[in-house]
Amino acid sequence: MNTVKRTRIVELLTREDYGATVNVKGWVRTRRGSKSVNFIALNDGSTIKNVQVVADVEKFDAELLKLITTGACISVDGTLVQSVGSGQNVEVQATAIEVLGTCASDYPMQKKGQTFEYMRQHAHMRLRTNTFGAVFRIRHHMAMAIHQYFHEHGFVYFHTPIITASDCEGAGQMFQVTTQNLYDLKKDEEGHIDYSGDFFGKATSLTVSGQLEGELGATALGAIYTFGPTFRAENSNTPRHLAEFWMIEPEMAFYDITDNMDLAEDFIKYCVRWALENCQDDLAFLNQMIDKTLLERLHFVLENDFQRLTYTEGIEILEEAVRNGRKFEFPVSWGVDLASEHERYLVEEHFKRPVILTDYPKEIKAFYMKMNDDGKTVRAMDVLFPQIGEIIGGSEREADYDKLMARINELEIPMKDMWWYLDTRRFGSCPHSGFGLGFERLILFVTGMQNIRDVIPFPRTPKTAEF
Ligand code: 4AD
Ligand code: MG
Repeated sequence: MNTVKRTRIVELLTREDYGATVNVKGWVRTRRGSKSVNFIALNDGSTIKNVQVVADVEKFDAELLKLITTGACISVDGTLVQSVGSGQNVEVQATAIEVLGTCASDYPMQKKGQTFEYMRQHAHMRLRTNTFGAVFRIRHHMAMAIHQYFHEHGFVYFHTPIITASDCEGAGQMFQVTTQNLYDLKKDEEGHIDYSGDFFGKATSLTVSGQLEGELGATALGAIYTFGPTFRAENSNTPRHLAEFWMIEPEMAFYDITDNMDLAEDFIKYCVRWALENCQDDLAFLNQMIDKTLLERLHFVLENDFQRLTYTEGIEILEEAVRNGRKFEFPVSWGVDLASEHERYLVEEHFKRPVILTDYPKEIKAFYMKMNDDGKTVRAMDVLFPQIGEIIGGSEREADYDKLMARINELEIPMKDMWWYLDTRRFGSCPHSGFGLGFERLILFVTGMQNIRDVIPFPRTPKTAEF
């Protein structure tokens, strides 16, 4: 066995040197057969496609063939032959088969047509299925597209800390990090926990966003992007929220909000185009099995400009809809934070295309956004997508020290740990902008999957941290 070098199935299926001796390794999807011949569908994860292995029963020990069950891992030596019946151009006529790992009879991915909820409970094994193989190959491709896009555009990949003492979004949804003995917490006279003896000598948490440090990078290197995990202890059990998700945050000196919107639109379209060009087999599968309008939607996003309007204009459209009898679960009026149903109404029913909403009321946005002259709205921009709602959140930043301080005082943000952030506005401040793209929300859009738990290998959500 194994005198021939292994060929990955994705490459094997493109070969035309019939008669060549080959070796393939992978996991058995199915074995079926007659008295004289067995057909084994083998997959090694390199492509959604299986290769058909043909084994003449008389050449193999019956006991060996019995071990080749769905889920078992095998290594096959054989001859590459032209195929007529397998749906591929080639198949492998087996000369020797080694069972590398048998598969116990309680293999959870045995039956087809299990629910996604069942798959989540077996997330460690769902990776072996066609759907999740396709999703995670596409996820990989999107990561490559993102790095390539920013590299081509002169952005520096900038690593921001995971453990931090500041709450970027000011929403208080942070997971604390401590090495203190929770059974014996030191408290001061007022009953507050004393962090001086803790690992970092102060209260620290997992980051909700790399933006604040990203701004330090942008105001030195010109343009940076982060791409890392972020954490939010928000108790949102929705198909669009994770407690641990990946975010891409570009931050650019000398960009105003229009430059920021142009970048966001160009960037998303680049990623979608990349998927269409590089993930054809997986997308074709998902379009057929998961969402019949997926490819159409991806092309549509590429071919149409995103609709840009202000929050105030958006509210007027929503109020008009309500007057015309449209029912929403949550009320709409100027000042409310838009719910997903409102965002989706604008995108899916009113404009029927992606929307960029700008100039939100300052009360519903973070402290760092640039104030407009009206004193009521800030230069925020949210990109809203069909089926997803908000996919990007960003803004032009407040570059003026006094205005930023005024906002910080207004919101009573504890600034003692933020002096370094304010220094950007003291030492050569400059106009700058940035945004955050939720990686999993992009993957939802590109794969047509419905639940964010199904586009990250091992999802973290309230009450779930299995695997
Ligand atoms: O709108 P958000 O909260 O913006 C920020 O964090 C800014 N600091 C970004 C920036 O300007 N640099 O989050 C940005 C994006 C959202 O639009 C959404 O796509 C995603 O991150 N996101 C989540 N994705 C999954 N689960 C969650 N709980 C998410 N919260 C936000
Ligand atoms: Mg947001």
